[in-house]
Amino acid sequence: MTAIIQASDLTKIFGRSTAVDHISFEVRQGEIFGFLGPNGAGKTTTTRMLTGVIPPDAGTALILGHDIRSEPVQAKQRFGVVPETSNAYTDLTAWQNLMLMGELYGLPRARAEQRSSDLLGMVRLLDRKDQKVQAYSKGMKQRLILAMALIHEPELLFLDEPTSGLDVQSTQMILSLLRDLNAKGTTIFLTTHNMEEANRLCHRVGIIRAGKMVAIDAPEKLKTAIDRIHKIEVSFDREVHGDALAGLEGVVTANRTGDKWQVTTRNKDATIHSLANFSRHNGAAIVTLNTLAPSLDEAFLRLTEEAQS
Ligand SMILES: Nc1ncnc2c1ncn2[C@@H]1O[C@H](COP(=O)(O)OP(=O)(O)O)[C@@H](O)[C@H]1O
Ligand SMILES: [Mg+2]
Repeated sequence: MTAIIQASDLTKIFGRSTAVDHISFEVRQGEIFGFLGPNGAGKTTTTRMLTGVIPPDAGTALILGHDIRSEPVQAKQRFGVVPETSNAYTDLTAWQNLMLMGELYGLPRARAEQRSSDLLGMVRLLDRKDQKVQAYSKGMKQRLILAMALIHEPELLFLDEPTSGLDVQSTQMILSLLRDLNAKGTTIFLTTHNMEEANRLCHRVGIIRAGKMVAIDAPEKLKTAIDRIHKIEVSFDREVHGDALAGLEGVVTANRTGDKWQVTTRNKDATIHSLANFSRHNGAAIVTLNTLAPSLDEAFLRLTEEAQS
């Protein structure tokens, strides 16, 4: 497979801190590549270097064969960007924003109009096209920004946390649009701090932590790490023994915190099942039961441990 993005030793230094520290990776043609990491890890800085907003301090990247240092303009014509902060003008309408984008990419007027109608239909904003963006909800705005990024039919799309802070409906719509675009051949570079999202959508994921790439893998491997460390928080209406909980199916550890038990499990479903059985057989009613998604750091730890072993 051809590399659409080839980053080598990409580095960015702000003052005394190295935000992006010699990272190397490739994104292959036709894939959805998830760029995953906690807040402050260097995702946006990397994306901004790749999309030619800021220059790297060391290393470089080839985007569609063009070096971001020497040929930034050629590359820009062939990719689209949904940046971390909105690039839509709020005092303009959706239609005007799209026309402006069309001009920026040198699209003929008629072509820009055709694309804008198609794209507004796709993101379900056609009936709101003449409304100023300031009246839009966050989700509508983000859908417009996605449409704007696609005006010139780019073969590569960068998105920096496109679903961050969005309602469920807009999130689902955006994710499903990304899937459709990808199915039609668009390569996607998706930045996110949401593991589940990366897991559901991406063919491969790269994990960045404190400016360093700590793992690049298929999400299946990531998922294994996530599944292995699920936590269940449970409380009963009377005293129960930790040993009894530790013996339930799938349970790795059972620790008490206040009036609750924190149970880590290899098999969430089986453990919940056996907790219900345990409750019935011991006459200890379950007062609360929550499953806690593993923190990014927990999963990262697993992944880096795996990478070292
Ligand atoms: N323009 C800047 N000036 C100084 N420090 C910055 C700048 N942009 C980002 N940083 C720092 O670089 C690190 C990485 O930030 P960023 O790339 O935005 O992370 P992420 O997108 O993964 O949350 C953070 O410590 C951040 O504070
Ligand atoms: Mg960011």
